[in-house]
Amino acid sequence: MERYREIIPDFDAFLETLERPQPVTVRVNRLKATPEQVTDALKKRGFDVKPLPWNGWILQVEGEDSVAKTLEHWLGWFYIQEASAATAVMALDPQPGERILDLCAAPGGKTTQMAELMANTGLIVANDVTPKRLRALLANLSRIGVVNTIVTQWDGRNYPDLGIEFDKVLIDAPCSAEGRVRENPDLRQGADINFIRSISGTQKGLLRRALELVKPGGIVVYATCTFAPEENEAVVAYAMQKVPSELLPIDLPVPHAQGLTEWQGREFGEAMRLCVRIYPHHLDSGGLFLAKLRRL
Ligand SMILES: C[S@@+](CC[C@H](N)C(=O)[O-])C[C@H]1O[C@@H](n2cnc3c(N)ncnc32)[C@H](O)[C@@H]1O
Repeated sequence: MERYREIIPDFDAFLETLERPQPVTVRVNRLKATPEQVTDALKKRGFDVKPLPWNGWILQVEGEDSVAKTLEHWLGWFYIQEASAATAVMALDPQPGERILDLCAAPGGKTTQMAELMANTGLIVANDVTPKRLRALLANLSRIGVVNTIVTQWDGRNYPDLGIEFDKVLIDAPCSAEGRVRENPDLRQGADINFIRSISGTQKGLLRRALELVKPGGIVVYATCTFAPEENEAVVAYAMQKVPSELLPIDLPVPHAQGLTEWQGREFGEAMRLCVRIYPHHLDSGGLFLAKLRRL
């Protein structure tokens, strides 16, 4: 992680956070339950439960056993989701009745979050290229009670024109996942630079296609859970050169850093500051990068 010392504010707090286990958080499924119902049920099972200060639908849960084994989990009252991950959908701000493409959707953490906020109305097209992960997506859609979503299997870089005017597209891109280092200590030294370079090619193809598929004036949110600028700002800069688009501010009620305007001599432009970098010490969670774009 040393390569990020210059760009991560309060680097010592960042390193110190990586030493601690990450708290478990669950997102209450508003299609089936309320935060009070989930809190009561889990407390009765011996869990300590408290809502996050910035989003009362996300609960921090502590207990001896795994919350995944509870009946309420199987009934779909909640989805186990990193607190930081929930901010991607908050940035996209899905509305009832909209048509949204989730280009890299499996296993469905964000698809289900969108369906909940859309009150199961409108249309979500949830796509992923990996068959095994699609099975998990289908199971989660069923468990959460999602009925506004169809599932497709394509390489998102070549996603076909379905004749649907998408209001919004989410790309929760495959990435080197450095932001999940607390769960995967192998990443302590940072991800392999060759992997970073190769996956950034895929990410560029995905974001470019997303910008082509959204309607003019429509919104695209690009998210990764990594710190590497090659997978973040560099990808955004590439796609903006290919498809006319502009960066938009992201209104999030959480501490975060701005996007980078420069990395290793490469300039990304002042507007890149509008991107959001959430580091593990910001939310005591994982790391996340977000860019919000409007197609012109
Ligand atoms: C970060 S995960 C998505 C997590 C998911 N959005 C969620 O919230 O549960 C990235 C996903 O991208 C998929 N993927 C990788 N390459 C892809 C491609 N070329 N086209 C579409 N999906 C791809 C992977 O199979 C993986 O499921």
